[in-house]
Amino acid sequence: MIKVGIIGVGTVGASVANILKDNADVISARAGVDIIAKSGVVKNLSKDRGVDIILSDNVDDVLNDAEIDVVVELMGGVDEPFEVVKRALESGKAVVTANKALLAYHRYELQDIAKDIAFEFEASVAGGIPIINALRDGLSANHIESIMGIMNGTCNYMMTKMTNEGVSYDAILKEAQELGYAEADPTFDVGGYDAAHKLLILASIAYGIDAKPEDILIEGIDNVRSEDIAFAKEFGYAIKLLGIAKKDANEVELRVHACLIKQEEMIAKIDGVMNAISVVGDKVGETLYYGPGAGGDATASAVVANIIDIARSGKSTPMLGFDRPMEGSQLTLKPTANIESKYYLRVNVSDKAGVLARITKIFETHNISIETMLQRPSENSSANLLISTHTATESDIQAMIDELEALDFVNARPVMIRIV
Ligand code: HSE
Repeated sequence: MIKVGIIGVGTVGASVANILKDNADVISARAGVDIIAKSGVVKNLSKDRGVDIILSDNVDDVLNDAEIDVVVELMGGVDEPFEVVKRALESGKAVVTANKALLAYHRYELQDIAKDIAFEFEASVAGGIPIINALRDGLSANHIESIMGIMNGTCNYMMTKMTNEGVSYDAILKEAQELGYAEADPTFDVGGYDAAHKLLILASIAYGIDAKPEDILIEGIDNVRSEDIAFAKEFGYAIKLLGIAKKDANEVELRVHACLIKQEEMIAKIDGVMNAISVVGDKVGETLYYGPGAGGDATASAVVANIIDIARSGKSTPMLGFDRPMEGSQLTLKPTANIESKYYLRVNVSDKAGVLARITKIFETHNISIETMLQRPSENSSANLLISTHTATESDIQAMIDELEALDFVNARPVMIRIV
């Protein structure tokens, strides 16, 4: 029998305990052994968790319990879970975590600490979608050319509702929080950080890239407004927050930002809280993974799958799927300034003679070519210029935005969305 201790019995932790009980028949058949949730740790013991396990408010009750074989870490945060996971691994207990922030910062250290002890993290990326398993095992014969996906359900839910129902940004964020999709601090969702944590985990498995959130381009959906959605619809685009990893010769670009993406693309059709990730391998071609990226049972489904794997094999090494440099260790992170894209810009200007000529001149001086342009009247004698460009570099577009912002007839910093 395998005994499990759950540190952090919130929505996901309670689902883990309940799935182990409800689906004990299939779980023991697949694992070849019975698996039970023995105990859990919570901060507040007076709250009912709807679980049938021993609860304590002291992590030592799980970490020092010799009967516990697998520790499930669902605490959230970075520093405290790092210490807990480290202690569990050092005492020889297998660990399963759903904690993407922990892995975004400490995955390589944890791989070193874990060595032969099983340390699994399927639920850390895209909740119930077995994307880690697909990338680390199913596609292990391939060089990975790109990973592109909707990795944050909250942002996708918000973008879908704003597009299809015209709901305001603030109202829909509140709804996503009430539905339990959003992180405890929703700026992690709308600022792109949650998706970035997930992208960094996938990029490690695919490329062996050791980057931290601070090293990569991260933007959120917080600037997207109804004018941008109207432009997107008019030109046949959807707006999505995407995480993108792309190999270009010996460099890998990693970025998270809102994207205008053609409505015909599969990923543009993914609506609501669902996640979807496209992975292109050099041998397999494009593969697409779709499913619930958040929610108690969906996330716990991935946690329990990891526990079953551990019960089957007793160990899983190496944690990130490789133990020597991949691709001759030639791959490096592409500097953000060199990333190329097409861009959409919304520039709010005073609506007077000569403004358009001055604006287009600035595009020319930065060597940025305009593809489409619309002008829409706005409040107080101003107008929104909605402009899409041909391919340019991040450094050129950012320099141009800085110059545009400084003009006296430009009323606010121009809003930019990349076109994929
Ligand atoms: N806040 C996350 C999301 C939950 O909205 O996708 C799953 O990581």
